[in-house]
Amino acid sequence: MLFVLLAGYEVRRSEVIATQGAIAIDHASLLNELQRSNIEIVIAYDHTLEGWSRALDLRDKETEGHSKRVTEMTLRLMRATRLGGAELVHARRGALLHDIGKLGVPDSILLKPGPLTEEEWVVMRRHPEYANALLSPITYLKHSIDIPYCHHEKWDGTGYPRGLKGEQIPLVARLFAVVDVWDALRYERPYRKGWSDEKVCEYIHSHAGTHFDPEVVKVFLRMEKTCKFSNLYDKVEA
Ligand SMILES: [Fe+2]
Repeated sequence: MLFVLLAGYEVRRSEVIATQGAIAIDHASLLNELQRSNIEIVIAYDHTLEGWSRALDLRDKETEGHSKRVTEMTLRLMRATRLGGAELVHARRGALLHDIGKLGVPDSILLKPGPLTEEEWVVMRRHPEYANALLSPITYLKHSIDIPYCHHEKWDGTGYPRGLKGEQIPLVARLFAVVDVWDALRYERPYRKGWSDEKVCEYIHSHAGTHFDPEVVKVFLRMEKTCKFSNLYDKVEA
């Protein structure tokens, strides 16, 4: 009798263990599934941002490919200044969308072939504020606003939209400002050839302490010397 009872107990214990094992496997599968879904959502978000970025470059015909190049260069510069992890993720999104505020600038100004009037410049200089207004309500982009909002601020306080000065300007925007100007000068435009590496470096060096953070310029120029950005450019002439 005792043997029968013990055997029954063992069977139930085995069933309980088997059930618990099955539940644990179910939980692990569910967790894996959730993690995979999260990763897929993040990838989908980032692909969407890349699409927006390409659309912006297409509209602003002079700078086709500009957003992709400055994003790559900004990430390289961040790594050279020992920034990493989540900061790279947020900066990548911010760099891709840095000129999204130009959606608020009319074609008649954005695509004007000649120089802008002072009134037109007033409208053009609003694009960082438009970017802030556009991106602020989007929760997953709230840490990516510094570049779109602050990339036209200058170290000496003469930039826009807020006239921030020195370290009031977020570091990632100070890094991006150098990269943005470097790309604008280095890349060929319909009305002029792209400048040589040397000429652009001289320009950036001469604006350290006025337009640019001098420490960022040092890192940028050291980096440009050791690993040229030229592989990002096809049609640039010396
Ligand atoms: Fe801009």
